[in-house]
Amino acid sequence: MSQSILGNQRGEVIPGAALRTETWWLLPATVVLVLGAFIVYSTWAAFQNAHYFVAPYLSPFYSPCLSKSCLHPSFGVGLPDIRMPIIGLVSPAFLILWGPGLFRLTCYYYRKAYYRSFWLSPPSCAVRDAHESYTGETRFPLVFQNLHRYAWYVAVVFICLLTWDAILAFRFSNGFGIGVGTLVMSLNVFFLAGYTFSCHSCRHLCGGNVNRFHQAPLRYRVWRFVSRLNERHPLFAWLSLFSVGLTDLYIRLLSMGVIRDLRIL
Ligand code: FES
Repeated sequence: MSQSILGNQRGEVIPGAALRTETWWLLPATVVLVLGAFIVYSTWAAFQNAHYFVAPYLSPFYSPCLSKSCLHPSFGVGLPDIRMPIIGLVSPAFLILWGPGLFRLTCYYYRKAYYRSFWLSPPSCAVRDAHESYTGETRFPLVFQNLHRYAWYVAVVFICLLTWDAILAFRFSNGFGIGVGTLVMSLNVFFLAGYTFSCHSCRHLCGGNVNRFHQAPLRYRVWRFVSRLNERHPLFAWLSLFSVGLTDLYIRLLSMGVIRDLRIL
C-alpha cells in the first residue's frame, strides 16, 4: 500500500489538510461563535453586579447570592463583602460561578466540542490535527479534567438551589402567581437538570461497579433512565447553555425597565 494511505512517520493518515471537501468547518465555527458569545456575555453579566434581581426573580448567575450587599441575599443571610485592591467590591457572582463553570468546562461533551473548535485538535473527523503532538489528559493542565466526577456533586447542589429560586418565582408581593419570568426560570431548571442528570458521571454513578444488574434492580432501573437521558446529553448541553443565559438576560431587561413581565395568573 502507498504511504498516502498508510500515513507518514508521525502516524498521520490524512494526506493534505483534510479528506473532506464539504463545509466541515461550519460546525466548529458555530461552536466557537456560540460558546464564545456565552463566555463573553456571562463574564460581562457577572462583572455588572447589578440588575440581577427583580422580585420575585433572581438571575441564575447570582444564585445563591451570598454577599451582604446582595440585592436579594439567598436564605436571608449574607457573608461579609469581599473587596479587592483594584477591582473594589467583588461581584457576588464570582463567589459561586466557579461551581457550574467547572462542571461545564470539564464536561466530556464540551471537551469534545471545544477541543475540536477552539484547539483544532482535530477540528473534525478526517481533518488534520493542527498540533504536532498529543499527550491526552494525563498532564497538567488537562489532567484536571478528571475533576469532572466531583464537579457533578457541586452541580447537583446548584440544581437544588435553582429549583428553590424557581419555586420562589411563584411568590409575588400579592401572593401566588405565574409570570412569564416564572416559566422562564422553571424551564431553565428543567434544562439544567436534564443536563446534570444526563451527565456521563451520573450514569456511571448509577450503574457503575455493578457486575450483575439482576442483583440490583433499582440501580438497573435508574441506570436505564439515566442512559436514555444520556443519549440526549449534547442537546441538553446546548439547551441549558441558552436557557441560563437567556434567563439572566430576561431578568436583566426587566430590572432595567426595558421590558415588562407579563402576569399569566
Ligand atoms: S459529561 Fe457533560 S456534564 Fe458530565
